[in-house]
Amino acid sequence: MDRLKSSARFMIVSDLDHTMVDHHDPENLSLLRFNALWEAYYRPDSLLVFSTGRSPTLYKQLRKEKPMLTPDITIMSVGTEITYGNSMVPDEGWVEYLNNKWDKSIVIEETSKFPELTLQAETEIRPHKVSFYVQKDKAPEVMKALSESLEKRGLDVKIIYSGGMDLDILPQGAGKGQALAYLHKKFTSEGRLPQNTLVCGDSGNDAELFSIPDVYGVMVSNAQEELLKWHAENAKDNPKIIHATESCAAGIIQAIGHFNLGPSSSPRDVMDSSDAMPEKFEPGHEIVKFFLFLERWRRAEMEFSELYLAGLKALSLPSCVFVHPSGAEQSVLDCTNELRRSYGDKQGKQYRVWVDQVLPTEIGSNIWLLKFTKWELLGEQRRGCVVTVLLSSKDLSAPEGFTWVHMHQTWLDEARAKDHTDWVC
Ligand code: GLC
Ligand code: MG
Repeated sequence: MDRLKSSARFMIVSDLDHTMVDHHDPENLSLLRFNALWEAYYRPDSLLVFSTGRSPTLYKQLRKEKPMLTPDITIMSVGTEITYGNSMVPDEGWVEYLNNKWDKSIVIEETSKFPELTLQAETEIRPHKVSFYVQKDKAPEVMKALSESLEKRGLDVKIIYSGGMDLDILPQGAGKGQALAYLHKKFTSEGRLPQNTLVCGDSGNDAELFSIPDVYGVMVSNAQEELLKWHAENAKDNPKIIHATESCAAGIIQAIGHFNLGPSSSPRDVMDSSDAMPEKFEPGHEIVKFFLFLERWRRAEMEFSELYLAGLKALSLPSCVFVHPSGAEQSVLDCTNELRRSYGDKQGKQYRVWVDQVLPTEIGSNIWLLKFTKWELLGEQRRGCVVTVLLSSKDLSAPEGFTWVHMHQTWLDEARAKDHTDWVC
């Protein structure tokens, strides 16, 4: 969060399951479209916040299964755990606040009297969250009786029903909405409230997000009945909330466009990248475009043409060096030869390339240092490396307004490729 010294231009607060992540799409196309959009145009001056019902354990599992970006802030366990940055440093102030009128052992004791409730997996029971499964038809009655019995025991709790099956019991001050209100308050006290906030969700535990003042909201097309009902009863006249016609992450992109919150055309939706030159030089966009080219080239989703290779060569300084993650140094000529050989080698395969946390710094006049993570997915296998790139935007006569000066890749420890030869660049 300290990455940004002033107000973020934009903040997205998104639920994960069935909102950012489409569990019905094994190709993860809308998620990949969102990723490309975010890294091309938003990462440097905006904040990505994930707000999930999952515990840290299940959240980390999802990150391994799906091509998700790394958020700036992660809110887990239905707004009861807030963490910052890549190392996920917990917000201790929030934990302190949630202890108010909360006693987990009393919740466990009282709920054990309800045979309709089935306790969820151990990982999902957290210091400020106790969760069960309960049948849809039994839910209203159980919730009412529960809240009475917990109140009698002196607790002030919030009971939330989501996805037509999950029942969460949290301290009254917790929840996704309260966690967002807490962040907004914190940013305001530091004089850097984001200029715009968009909240995105699909189920009951997301409803609170839509009641935070001044936020834009999108309920994705596949939103659950309980959320749509909440909206009809509480927020139907709020023009800042839409029910998208697109599902999951495609619905988020749709809302960005609908509310005019910034660029909403994902580089993945653009086949010929020369059609979509941004108004100003966006270093992140260059990186996204290059690796998208690599994916399409190897999948043979574009025609083979020497012109592309010549174009790439023209984009690089003759002295440009690429340090392959194996440590081998390659010249521009070596690289183009490698690319020529790799055309179509992933045709018909589940092969995807995406980049995460593309952060540019202008280190001198018209010289940009970019650092990011690059991932490749081939079937079930995922590999990744840390990349640094030097781009120069000095030579305005260059076809795209910039030239590649240097690129260096290093395997990520946990995602080292066994076979170096299959990693082109
Ligand atoms: C996630 C959590 C679960 C919770 C549900 C609804 O699925 O893993 O514990 O009940 O979200 O909030
Ligand atoms: Mg969800």
